[in-house]
Amino acid sequence: MTKIINEQKRITLFWSGASGAPYGLRLLESLLAADYQVYLLISSAARVVLATEHGLKLPSGPKAAAEALAKHLQCPTDKLVVCGKDDWFSPVASGSAAPKQMVVCPCSAGALAAIAHGMSDNLAERAADVVMKERGQLLLVVRETPFSTLHLENMLKLSKMGVTIMPAAPGFYHQPESIDDLVDFMVARILDHLGIEQVMVPRWGYDQRDK
Ligand SMILES: Cc1cc2nc3c(=O)[nH]c(=O)nc-3n(C[C@H](O)[C@H](O)[C@H](O)COP(=O)(O)O)c2cc1C
Repeated sequence: MTKIINEQKRITLFWSGASGAPYGLRLLESLLAADYQVYLLISSAARVVLATEHGLKLPSGPKAAAEALAKHLQCPTDKLVVCGKDDWFSPVASGSAAPKQMVVCPCSAGALAAIAHGMSDNLAERAADVVMKERGQLLLVVRETPFSTLHLENMLKLSKMGVTIMPAAPGFYHQPESIDDLVDFMVARILDHLGIEQVMVPRWGYDQRDK
């Protein structure tokens, strides 16, 4: 059983099968750097995306995957818990133990639909359902283009329930010079919403005036 280190600094992160592995990796890195205990859920398609976009092939076992990620990100493993998709005894599966915050990043149209309809067919979908029923904070970093009416309806439905929909749509007003700058833009906005301090991207109207 995983020991809960700090009730306040726990979060669930779901990497679903949308394009955008760099967002997911950078967010994970940032959460661990902020001393969060991260319950990481990774769909089968997300593993394919990670290998395709980042060349990172994760071992199938949750423990080995956590070790591979910790090695890749050069961070300690003690705060990273990778959960299997049928690990129904994970804390994220129950309102009595789940973290109050969850981010799906990147979020596929498939994951969006499953969450919007409360499918709970695997641990990630169940975790999202739990966060919603417990009135916690759920952020979906949706990546698809264009959006169909169905995607838009699913997003509207969830938004009306208090879920934050954050399309993976980085801005350009911070004058990005690299892909990392674009990734940081999105991750910074996610951290802002989670209430986690970040210095990756200056806030509008503050640091820019000093330039
Ligand atoms: C390399 C790759 C990129 C993909 N990109 C997207 C995407 O950007 N948005 C999306 O909705 N689905 C995308 N898909 C399709 C989803 O992975 C697929 O619909 C999957 O079943 C979604 O389920 P999951 O999110 O639960 O993994 C992509 C698949 C692959 C292999």
